[in-house]
Amino acid sequence: MSDALLSASGVTKRYAGIVALQAVSLEVRAGEFAAVIGPNGAGKSTLFDCLTGVQRPDRGQVVFDGRPVDSLKPAARARAGMARTFQRIELFGGMTVLDHLLVADRARTRRGGLLADVLTGSHPSPEELARCAAVLELLGLEQWADRPAESLTLGKGRLVELARALMCEPKLLFLDEPSSGLDRHETDEMGNALQRVQHERGIAVLLIEHDVPLVERLAERISVLDYGELIASGPTEEVLSDQKVRIAYLGATT
Ligand SMILES: Nc1ncnc2c1ncn2[C@@H]1O[C@H](COP(=O)(O)OP(=O)(O)O)[C@@H](O)[C@H]1O
Ligand SMILES: [Mg+2]
Repeated sequence: MSDALLSASGVTKRYAGIVALQAVSLEVRAGEFAAVIGPNGAGKSTLFDCLTGVQRPDRGQVVFDGRPVDSLKPAARARAGMARTFQRIELFGGMTVLDHLLVADRARTRRGGLLADVLTGSHPSPEELARCAAVLELLGLEQWADRPAESLTLGKGRLVELARALMCEPKLLFLDEPSSGLDRHETDEMGNALQRVQHERGIAVLLIEHDVPLVERLAERISVLDYGELIASGPTEEVLSDQKVRIAYLGATT
C-alpha cells in the first residue's frame, strides 16, 4: 500500500495527432511540496488538466486520498480536496479581494447565491469572515481586503488567486506557474507565501514552475516532463544535477 495522497499512473493524452502526455505516473504524499518542470509544450498544464478533471485522459488512472477520481468532474475533485490555480490570471472586475474569498468560501460550503449574493450585499457571517481573515493573514493580504481586484499589481493578484484556492480547504494545491510575469521581488514573496501554506497549514503542493531557483528553494521532489514523457523524478538536488535533465531542460550542452 502506498501512502500517496495523489497517485497518477499511466496518464496518456492525445490532441489531434499530438501526444501531449505519454504514460505519465506521479505521486504526491500528504503535506509534501512537489514540482513539475519541463520546457514549453512539454505537457505540464495538460497533466494538471488530467489530474484535476478539466480534461479526460485517453488512458491512465488518478487516485486521490484513497479513492479513484477518474469519473469525478472538476468541482467534485475540488470538494475532495484538490484545488488549482490557472496559468492565466482569472480575477473578476468590480469585486474586492474579500469578495473573491467569500465567493470561494460559499462555493465550498454550498451556501447558495454565490456571486449575486455577495454583490447584492447579503451579509457574510462572522464565521465566513473569520475564515477569510485567516487566509488573508497567512498570505499577508490583510491591508488589501477591500481593494477592487483590478487595482492590484500582478504579484498581489496571484496571491489573491492562491488565497481563493485556499478557501476550498484543499489537501493538495495545484499551482500552474504562479511566478509567471512576476519580478524577482514578487517571485520571492510568492515563494514565502507558498512555504507558509505548506508549513502552517500542512497542505501538499504540486507546483508547475519554470523558475528553477524557486523550485530549488521550495520543492522536495521534482518530476521532469519532456515532449509528454516523464524523463526524471526524485529528490530535487538529484534531479537538477541529472545530465539528461540538464540537456533537455536547462540547456546544458555537456
Ligand atoms: N486543448 C488543446 N488542444 C490541442 N492541443 C493542445 C491543447 N492543450 C495543449 N495542447 C498541446 O499539447 C502539448 C502540451 O501543451 P501544454 O500541456 O500546454 O504544455 P506546457 O504546459 O508544458 O507548456 C502542446 O503541444 C500543446 O500545443
Ligand atoms: Mg503550461
